[in-house]
Amino acid sequence: MVEVRSHGFFRFLAPVYDIGAKMAMLGRYERLRQQLLGKIEIRKGRRVLDMASGTGYLAEKLGVVDLVCTDISLDMLTRARAKANGDFVLADAHRLPFKAGVFHSAVSSFALHEVSRPGVVLDEMFRILGPGGEIAVMDVVQQTRFSKKILLEIFHTFVEMRTANYVNMAQLKEGFRAADGVNVQLEMFGLVALVWGKKRV
Ligand SMILES: C[S@@+](CC[C@H](N)C(=O)[O-])C[C@H]1O[C@@H](n2cnc3c(N)ncnc32)[C@H](O)[C@@H]1O
Repeated sequence: MVEVRSHGFFRFLAPVYDIGAKMAMLGRYERLRQQLLGKIEIRKGRRVLDMASGTGYLAEKLGVVDLVCTDISLDMLTRARAKANGDFVLADAHRLPFKAGVFHSAVSSFALHEVSRPGVVLDEMFRILGPGGEIAVMDVVQQTRFSKKILLEIFHTFVEMRTANYVNMAQLKEGFRAADGVNVQLEMFGLVALVWGKKRV
């Protein structure tokens, strides 16, 4: 049985999430989104999954693709539906309700720290990709440098209300490789890691 930690919390957060996220990202909101979406091919006919889409931070920029958003919070998903065209599916990221190999790309932003088993969620994102499928995941991660550890502690306390469960960079890369990822790359933007790669052909 997979434990789901946070959908009740997001019910209350949904109405103020967008404004809170913009403030928390301190002016990096647009740049981070562009960086992540730059790692996948965005054109008509491509089937793209936005896993734990929340209110549609990525989804609102995925207008041309055949988009599917999943989230465990109906309140968050309802807000995403107001911003983007696509299918909106209430689903736990640990058990995505799709057949294997049916998506060209899978993306996710700021969600891994919310789930109880990030490795299982990465496996699921890879499972639903076809051979050569693209994956890009972004999240705040554990830090090794002292100054960044302090920053993360402040972020964790005052923004996440100490509810987050950050993965570390090695775990992220290893999660990609273990799930059949190739050409795995990682770039840091402050406290945020962006990892991308492809599913083995
Ligand atoms: C911090 S928000 C990020 C939302 C969006 N991706 C963004 O970048 O703004 C985390 C999202 O993960 C969702 N979530 C948490 N646990 C989940 C789970 N087990 N399965 C699917 N979604 C989950 C929450 O409902 C919430 O919408």
